[in-house]
Amino acid sequence: MKTLTIAVIAGDGVGQEVVPQAKRVLEQAARKHDLTFAFQDFEWGAAHFFRWGKMMPSGALDLLQSCDAILLGAVGHPDLPDHTTLNGLLLPIRRSFDQYANVRPAYLYPGVKSPLAGRQGGQIDMVVVRENTEGEYAQVGGSVYTAQPEEVAIQTSVFTRRGIERVVRYAFELAMKRAKKKRVTSVTKSNAQGYSMALWDRTFQEVALEFPAIETESLLVDAAAMNFIRRPESFDVVVASNLFGDILSDISAIIVGSMGLAASANLDPLRRYPSMFEPVHGSAPDIAGKGVVNPLAAILSASMMLEHLEQPAAAREIEQAVAAVLAEGRVRTPDLGGTNGAREVTDAVLEKMA
Ligand code: NAD
Ligand code: IPM
Ligand code: MN
Repeated sequence: MKTLTIAVIAGDGVGQEVVPQAKRVLEQAARKHDLTFAFQDFEWGAAHFFRWGKMMPSGALDLLQSCDAILLGAVGHPDLPDHTTLNGLLLPIRRSFDQYANVRPAYLYPGVKSPLAGRQGGQIDMVVVRENTEGEYAQVGGSVYTAQPEEVAIQTSVFTRRGIERVVRYAFELAMKRAKKKRVTSVTKSNAQGYSMALWDRTFQEVALEFPAIETESLLVDAAAMNFIRRPESFDVVVASNLFGDILSDISAIIVGSMGLAASANLDPLRRYPSMFEPVHGSAPDIAGKGVVNPLAAILSASMMLEHLEQPAAAREIEQAVAAVLAEGRVRTPDLGGTNGAREVTDAVLEKMA
C-alpha cells in the first residue's frame, strides 16, 4: 500500500471549511484505491499571525519540502493587509518551490448553469495556464518619501526568457496531452508593454515551432477578457503572465458557474519540490462561518493533486463523483442556486464514490 504524505494548510476563512471536506473525500478515495494518506496539518495563517506576528514559522518551508504535495485552503483576513498575509504564506510557497505552472481548468459541467446565455454543459472546456513565479508578481520595488505626501512607489515586473519559455512549453505539452481542440492561446499586452510582453510574444512564437500539431493564437489581454465572454467555447489552453492569468482565471471560473467550482494546481513540473493544490477562490469573508461555502473547488483540487501524484484512477473517481452530483442537481450550495451546506454536498460526493 502506497503512503502519500500531504501537508495541509487550511488557512483562513472558508479555507477552514472546505479543506476538511476535501480530506474526507481523499480518505474515501484512499480506501478504494489501496492508498494511505499521512496528513500533516499546519495551523498557519491569520490566527498564527495574530499570535506570533507572522503567517508561518521560520523553517516552515523545510517542513513542507519533505511532503509529497501541499493542500491549501485560502489565505486572507479582513483585519490584516492582504499584501502582508499573502506575501507571508501563499506567494513564498509558489516561488520557493518554483511552482511555475499554475493550472486552472474551467469546464462547464452538465447540470450547471453558465451566466452566459445559451451555453450547454461541456461546451466550455478550457484551461488557463498562468506563469506563477515572476512577471508582475516579482517582489521587486520599493518606495521613497514613504507615508509622506510626496510618496513614490515603484513595482517592477520581471520577465525572463527562461521563465516564459518553460511555462509556454508546459502549455503546449498540456494541449497535446488533452488532445482536444489542440489550440494554445497566448495572452499579453505587447502593444503597450513593448519590452516584457514583446519578449513573451517572441518566445511564444519560438516555442510554437516545436509543436506543429498545435494551432496558435495571440490575443491582447483586453480582447482576451472580451472573448472569454463572447466565444468561450473556442478556447483550449490559454497561457498568460502571473497577473493576467490571475484575472482571466476568475473570469473563466465564473463563466462555468461559480468560483466555488474552480480548482487549481501550482506545479513544479520538474518534480524537484512539492506542488500545491488549492481552490482558485479566496477566504470569502462574506460567507465564512455560515457553512454555505461550496467545497467542490477544494475537492476538485484534491483530485488534481491525485492526478499529479500518479493516482489517475482515484483522481478520476473523485471528478466523476463531483460531475454526477452536479448533473443530478439535487444537492448544491447557494452559489449554484441550492440551499445545502458544504457537508451535505460532500456527503453527496461520497455517496457517488461508494
Ligand atoms: P474570494 O474568492 O474570497 O470571494 C469572491 C466572491 O466569491 C465572494 O462573494 C465569495 O463569497 C464568493 N465565493 C468564493 N469562493 C466561494 C465558494 N467556494 N463557494 C461560494 N462562494 C464563493 O475573493 P475576495 O473576496 O476578493 O478575497 C477575499 C480574501 O481572500 C482577500 O483577503 C484576498 O486577498 C484573499 N484571496 C486569497 C486567495 C488564495 O488564498 N488563494 C485567492 C483569492 C483571494
Ligand atoms: C489567486 C489569488 C492570489 C493571486 C492572491 C490572493 C495573491 O488571487 O490565487 O488567484 O493573485 O495569486
Ligand atoms: Mn486570483
